[in-house]
Amino acid sequence: MKKKKFQFTYTVAEDSSALAAEDAALLQQARKTTRRAYAPYSRFSVACAAKLANGRTVVGSNQENASYPVGICAERALLATVGTQYSDEPILTLAVAYHSHTGNSNRPISPCGMCRQALSEYEKRTGSPIRLLLSGMEGPVYIIDTIKDLLPLAFGNDDLGIRG
Ligand code: THU
Repeated sequence: MKKKKFQFTYTVAEDSSALAAEDAALLQQARKTTRRAYAPYSRFSVACAAKLANGRTVVGSNQENASYPVGICAERALLATVGTQYSDEPILTLAVAYHSHTGNSNRPISPCGMCRQALSEYEKRTGSPIRLLLSGMEGPVYIIDTIKDLLPLAFGNDDLGIRG
């Protein structure tokens, strides 16, 4: 038997003023897009903004439903748009922000398990790492190099013996 170790390194910026201008602008766009969320049930508005390799920016927000499981997270809403409008275009950076209407919005959140799986598939499909900027409406920003860091031992097309 052999023990194996997984670890990853990420960067913490004290706030968005410590970011490169392009990253700060993308995060600002994600923060602004929280207004587009439809989150009457959770009162937790999430939004993201993706910078694509072709220079375009795409946004997404969570869209909830009275039938709760029907709701979709901001990250997967965004992936559906990117996949449809710019199929196979690499996502260079994805900024995620949220506004909680019932609590603080000053510490980063990170994508839920289902979104990690969806982001992992997009990363594999394009062969290009998705860099993440995670934050609230203010406060620290986590910078993560790739979805691989958030989903060790990911299940994927190769496990099915299928080419993606
Ligand atoms: N949510 C997202 O949109 N993205 C995340 O990364 C975490 C959670 C949404 C799902 C639901 O609409 C609300 O936030 C509360 O869980």
